[in-house]
Amino acid sequence: HGYFTFDPGFLATGSCESAITYIDGANGVLLHRGYPIDQLATEADYLEVCYLLMNGEAPTSEEYKEFVSIIKNHTMVHEGIASFFNGFSRDAHPMAMLCAVTGALSSFYHNDLDISDPDQRKRCIKRLVAKMPTIAAMCYKYSIGQPFVGPKNSLSYSENFLNMMFSVPAEDYEINPAVAKAMDRIFTLHADHEQNASTSTVRLSGSSGANPYACIAAGIASLWGPAHGGANEACLTMLEEIGSVDRIDEYVAKAKDKSDPFRLMGFGHRVYKNFDPRAKVMRETCHEVLDSLGIDDPLLDVAMKLEKIALEDPYFVEKKLYPNVDFYSGIILKAIGIPTSMFTVIFALSRTIGWISHWDEMLSQPGAKIGRPRQMYTGSDKRDFQPIEK
Ligand code: CMC
Repeated sequence: HGYFTFDPGFLATGSCESAITYIDGANGVLLHRGYPIDQLATEADYLEVCYLLMNGEAPTSEEYKEFVSIIKNHTMVHEGIASFFNGFSRDAHPMAMLCAVTGALSSFYHNDLDISDPDQRKRCIKRLVAKMPTIAAMCYKYSIGQPFVGPKNSLSYSENFLNMMFSVPAEDYEINPAVAKAMDRIFTLHADHEQNASTSTVRLSGSSGANPYACIAAGIASLWGPAHGGANEACLTMLEEIGSVDRIDEYVAKAKDKSDPFRLMGFGHRVYKNFDPRAKVMRETCHEVLDSLGIDDPLLDVAMKLEKIALEDPYFVEKKLYPNVDFYSGIILKAIGIPTSMFTVIFALSRTIGWISHWDEMLSQPGAKIGRPRQMYTGSDKRDFQPIEK
């Protein structure tokens, strides 16, 4: 009673037990249900990883087929969802729309939802995995004033997303297999990352028994910030600002200057003090996509040179600041033609399976408690209130 650990930013606080993801930041290890992320990213597809995260085991080919067919059956959203968009300003940030519309799903699935029933929880997971690409693409289409494109069951998960993003009624989008593969890999590499800010937010929201769709909206809100998921957008904006290779030194000096709040976006990580294993795969994929699309973009030259300089600079070396997953994903997404404002939306879409698997795990643990951190009070001592006329 009365004693607790004071740990702002939760640098040394374990908030839960979890069997989903293991990270060893010092050695650059990331495992999902025991499997190394590089193997999952290169040998499985995103929906297999979703199945693995939610169920604990990878699917057999029969289970996979059934899972894919269930996901495809849930890709459409209620027509009522489409009308939500008309209330948004045309220049609304897609994350603002994603957060609101995902939260609005709770108005369609609430009254008969029993979250103490594991089967009902699994149904929520499948619904979310199926609908997030549809909603994410709707956010983009609304922002550019084009009609929504519905899901197509003949396409894979990543192809379908690209098709809903880039097809127009007059012309179907031509899917480049290298681009679809890269998209799928981006989804996989962002699928889960244990108790980061957004996942902890989803767990904390869900610990009160709140509606899961509202909890995911809370996760989206937390992810939006530039220190978290917003870093991929902030990274590209920074590269654009740097503009040319000869200005890199100036920005590196700014990042090292302690009187300047500027940080090199896409560098550093709370947990990884070694190369982020996701960044390794993302780096390779980045080169594959650029080669396959034959893209020659001066911004990419800036990115590659910046990576080299930072990896050799003693400031970054001593502080163990390596390029993180957002550094390379931003470059790939730009090459695919995805606008910067959609980068964090894609992160949210990918991370939804991680968030909701943690929510499900928390609710399945016996004796789960509502999350309730304590605080160190720094306000006034007790004093007597004076009526306003005095
Ligand atoms: N540029 C320059 N200096 C940095 C950077 C950077 N990107 N990141 C950390 N530092 C310095 C920081 O100033 C501090 O120096 P000192 O010890 O002299 O005060 C030291 O490195 C440790 O930094 P910290 O802020 O105590 O570390 P943290 O664990 O609290 O923060 C971070 C981690 C990711 C928020 C931070 O590295 C950062 O702001 N990076 C840029 C934003 C970014 O790329 N975020 C994406 C993270 S990966 C995806 C995700 O989580 O969503």
